[in-house]
Amino acid sequence: MKKLGVIFGGVSCEHDVSIITGLQLIENANKAKYEVIPIYIHSDGEWYTGEELLNANIYKDFEAHQNHLKKVAILPSQKGLMVLEKGLFSKNTVIDLDVVIPAMHGMNGEDGTLQGLLELANIPYSSSGVLGSSVGMDKILMKKVFEAHKFPVLPYTYFTRAEWEEDRDEIITRIENELPYPMFVKPSNLGSSIGISKAKNREGLVHAIAVNYDARIIVEKSVENIREINCSGLGYENDVQASVCEEPVHWEEFLTFEDKYMHGGKGSKGAKGSKQSGMENMSRKIPAELEEQQEKKIRDLTCQVFKSLNSKGVVRVDYIIDKDTNEVYVNEINTIPGSFAFYLWEVSGITYPELIDKLVDIAEKAMHDKNKNNYSFKSDVIGNIAKGQKMGVK
Ligand SMILES: Nc1ncnc2c1ncn2[C@@H]1O[C@H](COP(=O)(O)OP(=O)(O)O)[C@@H](O)[C@H]1O
Ligand SMILES: [Mg+2]
Repeated sequence: MKKLGVIFGGVSCEHDVSIITGLQLIENANKAKYEVIPIYIHSDGEWYTGEELLNANIYKDFEAHQNHLKKVAILPSQKGLMVLEKGLFSKNTVIDLDVVIPAMHGMNGEDGTLQGLLELANIPYSSSGVLGSSVGMDKILMKKVFEAHKFPVLPYTYFTRAEWEEDRDEIITRIENELPYPMFVKPSNLGSSIGISKAKNREGLVHAIAVNYDARIIVEKSVENIREINCSGLGYENDVQASVCEEPVHWEEFLTFEDKYMHGGKGSKGAKGSKQSGMENMSRKIPAELEEQQEKKIRDLTCQVFKSLNSKGVVRVDYIIDKDTNEVYVNEINTIPGSFAFYLWEVSGITYPELIDKLVDIAEKAMHDKNKNNYSFKSDVIGNIAKGQKMGVK
């Protein structure tokens, strides 16, 4: 039986959504194969484990339940989950983890930071690595990489908050020279439509920038007659496959946080972790109605985007189609998609338990490959210092 750690929650705006993703995954993991260890990161940054975490109701009033849970940590020196025992003389124990699936969205979980910790601790994990995760989280760098690969992206420009504060007029002139109104103003680094606004004129642009959350801001040409299509990618290295496509359906000007996660009908807010909540509950058409050529193009692009970030596990690539021109643009990659996009894989012939098995396999394969690398190099540097050679002189 493999010990499968599932990490969810986290210090990010997407903490609640991550609980849904994590609990859904745990519910669907094959219990004959895995002993699942739930690992919850509270929004205050503390890590917990314990059976009670499987009860979705505790998160409404976590403080009342946290005494029944054990505080835990992953340390770079320990290949596992350290249980921090209470009491002066109690010894910390370590739960070995064979593999970890990070069910985290947004900052401090999907952005490479958690992946870095898992790398240091040498624990196999199923998501994109440090680099792919961090580039995938940053809309500016992501676009730069996509452009370098000649993937179609919408015209954009970007600037830092410091530049804005130094010379607003210059920034406004630059944006207006490069892009027509209306435009989308987005924080480079948040997700789930938080901090995103549409500017229809200069006044709107200044306001959108003022209320933005990030130190780096990206501004994009708006597609007025828009169709959105998402497609999931699954795999590792050269072995990547694309799922069927979905079309999320709009009911506001653009998909807000509420649209994405809260509109699942009555009770979806409260029923976290139930099979009826989360991304799979958003209004969507699966499979999306697309011309054969266009669908092929999107699925091919999904595999290429996956490879461009050296991704691993399951991702979702989101596209914008301009209905006026029928042009397809890559909008973004989510390296840990809501609900792991399992609803797309189900329609593509892979059940959720099978998807989890694949994620575990991929994590183990990647660790196997990592172990083939050589991280040590014998040099005489320390010996020479001991012999009195000056430090830092080559
Ligand atoms: N350039 C654009 N033109 C038209 N609509 C857009 C554009 N960029 C984003 N949107 C709308 O805003 C939503 C959120 O933007 P997105 O870039 O996907 O950010 P997030 O990381 O928050 O998901 C999109 O799903 C789409 O509905
Ligand atoms: Mg998006």
